[in-house]
Amino acid sequence: MDAPEVQSIETSTENLPPQDDEQDKAIDECLDIQIPNQDRSQRKQVGFSSIRHKILVFYPGSKQTAGCEGSVLLDDTSTFTGEKTATPNKDSVRGFEVIDAIKENVEKACPSTVSCADILTLAARESVYLTGGPYWPVPLGRRDGLTANKAAANELPSPFEPLKNITAKFISKGLDLKDVVVLSGAHTIGFAQCFTFKQRLFDFDGAGNPDPTLDASLLTNLRTVCPNQNDSDTNLASLDATTTNKFDNNYFKNLVNNSGLLQSDQALMGDNTTALFVMNYSKFPFLFSRDFGISMVKMGNIGVLTGQDGEIRKNCRMVN
Ligand code: HEM
Repeated sequence: MDAPEVQSIETSTENLPPQDDEQDKAIDECLDIQIPNQDRSQRKQVGFSSIRHKILVFYPGSKQTAGCEGSVLLDDTSTFTGEKTATPNKDSVRGFEVIDAIKENVEKACPSTVSCADILTLAARESVYLTGGPYWPVPLGRRDGLTANKAAANELPSPFEPLKNITAKFISKGLDLKDVVVLSGAHTIGFAQCFTFKQRLFDFDGAGNPDPTLDASLLTNLRTVCPNQNDSDTNLASLDATTTNKFDNNYFKNLVNNSGLLQSDQALMGDNTTALFVMNYSKFPFLFSRDFGISMVKMGNIGVLTGQDGEIRKNCRMVN
């Protein structure tokens, strides 16, 4: 089913801390200039028609460290090391040049008005929508941070850690168990490098056996994509092998069928509470769509800077 036609970019500041009305108006007007209401081709530019580009914006790396203040976009400087080379982001967070291009256009139309953090958050929403997923109102008015935090970025959830550790990291940011499950549904699109799941394929238990929770035919396919040698580490496999480029609920159906790619994905079936959420999302796509939007708004409000804090960066790669 095609995603419903949307006539305008929905923006809202409902869930963000109160701030200057004039600033809200300026942001809305600026986005109206940039994104004419009925011009879908322009919206596509904002929302990344290319699957390879969606990730940076969408990956929680930008959200779960210090928060949603665009720190992940900063390049290294003489005073701090940026987050782009933090272990969980390395070779994984992509699409910086797309954000640069959007920012350049927005700056031309309305200088110093729309932050990189807002651009990132909008682009995440657009990339979901343009791959057939839900659409949700995005509260705007974030300001950009003045520094990056590589150490905090290194604390992002890892696919190798137990579910309880991952959950604890989400909870420490004000999210809950349902958010963990529904946001993991983002793995309905995109790819993972072999090294992020290869240990499941060959010697999971130290006795030369694969992960017993991995479907046998998926195992065979994955061993072809990721042969047991170091030079296959950066090969890519679909996170959702059934519909890689479509934002649907097949990720959850895969988990029910033992076909989750990452160990951390399949682990959601190993706990009664998370498994119940998975079963429900696998059966009810609209429930997944609704809850995903709600959790994205929650995640998008973590660590937001407003008012006089931070700045509106002119170039997303560096502080002004
Ligand atoms: C629950 C904890 C999570 C873990 C452990 C995790 C782990 C990973 C890993 C290891 C990859 C592959 C990266 C690579 O090989 O380059 C990946 C990809 C991805 N993740 Fe997550 N992730 C988590 C949560 C999320 C959330 C909350 C979202 C978004 C809401 C998300 C969105 C994505 C997307 C879209 C990709 C595909 C990247 C691409 O195609 O380039 N992930 N994730």
